[in-house]
Amino acid sequence: MARKKIVVAYSGGLDTSVMVKWLSEKYDAEIITVTGDLGQKAELENLEEKARKTGASKSYIADLKSEFMEEYVWKALKAGALYEGDYPLATAIGRPLLAKLMVDVAIKENADIVAHGCTGKGNDQVRFEVGIQTLAPDLQVLAPLREWEFKSREQEIDYAIEHSIPVSVTKESPYSIDENLWGTAIECGILEDTTEAPPEDAYQITKSPIQAKDEPETVTLTFEKGIPTAIEGNKYSAVELITYLNAIGAEHGIGRIDMIENRVVGIKSREVYEAPGASILLKAHHEMEKLTLDKDTFRYKQNVSNQISNMIYDGQWFTPLFDSLMKFVDSTQDVVSGEITVQLYKGNITVLSRKSPFSLYNEELATYGTADTFQHRDSEGFINIYGLPYKTITKVRNQNQMGKPENALG
Ligand code: ARG
Repeated sequence: MARKKIVVAYSGGLDTSVMVKWLSEKYDAEIITVTGDLGQKAELENLEEKARKTGASKSYIADLKSEFMEEYVWKALKAGALYEGDYPLATAIGRPLLAKLMVDVAIKENADIVAHGCTGKGNDQVRFEVGIQTLAPDLQVLAPLREWEFKSREQEIDYAIEHSIPVSVTKESPYSIDENLWGTAIECGILEDTTEAPPEDAYQITKSPIQAKDEPETVTLTFEKGIPTAIEGNKYSAVELITYLNAIGAEHGIGRIDMIENRVVGIKSREVYEAPGASILLKAHHEMEKLTLDKDTFRYKQNVSNQISNMIYDGQWFTPLFDSLMKFVDSTQDVVSGEITVQLYKGNITVLSRKSPFSLYNEELATYGTADTFQHRDSEGFINIYGLPYKTITKVRNQNQMGKPENALG
């Protein structure tokens, strides 16, 4: 019988390196490593060689940056996805694409097992496995970190040395970091103490707002149907655009997020994120919608946005409901086109100007000046009818000597 083939999601870090060896021994299997490039700065150059030295027979490194931005991030942006009001969901958006990559390679290589290096208490295991189950229901998934014998990093390092696995000898960061073009997540170490502010060394890409440039800078973004396409009038690809905004935002201390969040498995965790480009784009996009969406659509979309954020967080990207909700979102974006200028200064993003051919803002209606065309008298009848149910309620309560509603003053 042919040896089993296992496709392993591989970063080159300690966990996944040890995993390659551990799986090949435990399952007597041929290991194929897969790495997706979503714009993380961790080096990818020597990764193939490193994987081979660790015992892999073959390794794939896929440049997924454009696909990530165009097929994943832009959807989340159009939806206005922010988990629990704060987290732009960078890691969560990347997982379904990485799950798809693993499935694609497994099919190509005719492998019947895939493995990932997520722990048993995080969200990423859920996102990977639900994604894989949906895309390839017959594929077996292994999560060695949930079951192997190692209880600490030291034990993993001992195993690596014993098996001549090349692990980086540089001093390990006390933090666990996951990075892609949409943002960076930083966990562990001192960050686990909710009473401690994140030390400066926890931040990987942004300058502290206190140390940021003393001069504000403006950025003018062009949106076409909910997607940013140009900066200062010059067209850029999605990858170029986010790379530029991350760099300029980082200089101004933009996009630092420190939050307590609810994980899928029920744990509350303290998370620190850096997402300068995402913060700028989410704010700018939201502002474009304020200008161009009608009141009912804008209000309704807030609920959809919240639902989509939860679904992305919970690993439900490849689901019928997600697709349906995204169709709704897309149908709202035809008018989300125009230009917006924001100012970046010491961690703040301030909107300076917005315009759109679809702007519903009508100065003649809004003005308090002499150009006013709004029919003030119309409001009287409108309010009489609008307030009618409440007037009726109070009358009935009075007849029954029930007193005023609890929250009424006096
Ligand atoms: N809490 C974030 C999320 O669930 C970040 C996860 C970071 N993942 C990691 N493997 N370090 O999306």
